[in-house]
Amino acid sequence: MTRAAGRFRRTARRAEEPGFGEPDPAHGKHLAPEVIALRAATKTYAGGLTALDHADLTIRQGELLAIVGPSGSGKSTLLNLMGTLDRPTSGRVEVLGHDVAALSDRRLSAVRARWIGFVFQQFFLAPHLTALENVANGLLYHGIGHSGRRDRAAEALRRVGLGHRLDHRPHELSGGERQRTAIARAVVARPRIVLADEPTGALDSASGAAVVDLLRDLNAQGTTIAVITHDQALAAALPRRVRILDGRIREDGRTVLSAAQPAGSGPEAAS
Ligand SMILES: Nc1ncnc2c1ncn2[C@@H]1O[C@H](COP(=O)(O)OP(=O)(O)O)[C@@H](O)[C@H]1O
Ligand SMILES: [Mg+2]
Repeated sequence: MTRAAGRFRRTARRAEEPGFGEPDPAHGKHLAPEVIALRAATKTYAGGLTALDHADLTIRQGELLAIVGPSGSGKSTLLNLMGTLDRPTSGRVEVLGHDVAALSDRRLSAVRARWIGFVFQQFFLAPHLTALENVANGLLYHGIGHSGRRDRAAEALRRVGLGHRLDHRPHELSGGERQRTAIARAVVARPRIVLADEPTGALDSASGAAVVDLLRDLNAQGTTIAVITHDQALAAALPRRVRILDGRIREDGRTVLSAAQPAGSGPEAAS
């Protein structure tokens, strides 16, 4: 009886402590939450080549960043780790707070399908399917019925300016339209993160610019986006640039550097 009352008082006192069960007002005031974090992430391929060497990189919600570097420098390896398509040989990768190493392949697939959209240079559209069907397939594992998938796919295609191309197959679309279809597929499930590996690499400059504008729009609507690019002008126009060389992150620069930038987030922390 007395002990029970004491427990009750202790519980009540805890409940009155500032911050108990409430968000800490100071927490996250300056910084958006981390969506992807690599901590000393290293990838050594079978055969012994180390394509990524102790990479430290934190991407916060709402960011739009370019990853630049010469061919063979490890950009795709970095993107594959960020997107959980591959696991690091050592070090740690976190996606939306989940330690990738702690998740089973099945849980990892679920995290990826739910939260991450991918765009690749080669589009990877199924040639025998229409634009609508290609995009609708981006929702296959989301528990949405056939007609719901088609409605959402049509909406996503309208969003990328292809509302008039729903029934076209890839060979009936221009390169830029194919990539916009691939972007619609990447975002149809409304992922938090879009990872794009050289999305303009196969496009003429006008189509490439349209694709970049589209990625900017998606970012403005809240999607966190990382884009690998060879295009210096494109990279220079983005708010953050991560430069990679020989598997190492050599530079991590923001156009507007905040005075309140936390220790350990700059490029000097990685070297
Ligand atoms: N699956 C793989 N097996 C072995 N080596 C690989 C594999 N993928 C990439 N590499 C090598 O790792 C290095 C980095 O490759 P990658 O990440 O594709 O670079 P980038 O995208 O910057 O061109 C290259 O030397 C490449 O040959
Ligand atoms: Mg690559």
